[in-house]
Amino acid sequence: MITCKNLSFSYDEEQDPAIDDVSFTIEKGSFVAVIGHNGSGKSTLARLINALYLPSQGDVLVAGMNTKDPDKLLSIRKTAGMVFQNPDNQLVATIVEEDIAFGPENLGIPREEIGERIEKVLSIVGMEEYRHRPPHMLSGGQKQRIAIAGILAMEPEIIIFDESTSMLDPSGRKEVLETIKTLHEKGITIVLITHFMEEVLQAERVLVMEQGKLVLDNTPAEIFTHMELLKSYDLKVPEIIELAMELKKAGRDIEFPVFTEEDLVRQLCP
Ligand SMILES: Nc1ncnc2c1ncn2[C@@H]1O[C@H](COP(=O)(O)OP(=O)(O)OP(=O)(O)O)[C@@H](O)[C@H]1O
Ligand SMILES: [Mg+2]
Repeated sequence: MITCKNLSFSYDEEQDPAIDDVSFTIEKGSFVAVIGHNGSGKSTLARLINALYLPSQGDVLVAGMNTKDPDKLLSIRKTAGMVFQNPDNQLVATIVEEDIAFGPENLGIPREEIGERIEKVLSIVGMEEYRHRPPHMLSGGQKQRIAIAGILAMEPEIIIFDESTSMLDPSGRKEVLETIKTLHEKGITIVLITHFMEEVLQAERVLVMEQGKLVLDNTPAEIFTHMELLKSYDLKVPEIIELAMELKKAGRDIEFPVFTEEDLVRQLCP
């Protein structure tokens, strides 16, 4: 679904590249998390996949389309939608349904079909009863779910979330993560960029970025065995996750994500 081949990208010739010889393939329908400390190149990578930037070297293929091919630009943007950090910057209209209609209208989708899509995507993100509400009255998590609905209405095959939960409170983060899980179950390919280690546990695979390089690429369980290495990349694994991972390894039935001690206690003593 997404292939990066010896991908490099520099903002400035004088500086080290922001993406440095990165190669990987993401399969259709998979759920991949991308972690790495500030400035490691995560957002740059997302923008390269979305064809907002073009490679300095190497190639990016999205559903077989090379991002360097100008004829494919619209098709790539339609295939790979992006959800950003700040929900307020992504909502454009004064009524929820108009906001969701914005993307499909730009794609030239007929009115009647847009109406159907609005209903469908609101039900996927669990916001049916908010169709006629003004988005600015919603909570952060709800706004972000509307932003996701707006992307979904364009029927993408891939959604890239660039720190889409980082401005939300814990309950908002949970809402959005639940939504992402639903999208994955529906077969959408998920790329989740995050600095919350507990969110990584929902993914099937984790890519760890460090100074523009892809330094680890494996399952969450395998990645978290490299505690010292992760610490050297400034990626601290929360104690509660370390504990939950240990318990799971020891055979306890733990369901991730585990955010808090209460979450863990609830699972151990239901
Ligand atoms: N518009 C820009 N112009 C010049 N350099 C940039 C620009 N955007 C990012 N960079 C640099 O490119 C490198 C990678 O940045 P990027 O934003 O991709 O990292 P990130 O992993 O998303 O970081 P964060 O966790 O802070 O979001 C950093 O060194 C950053 O300073
Ligand atoms: Mg970033």
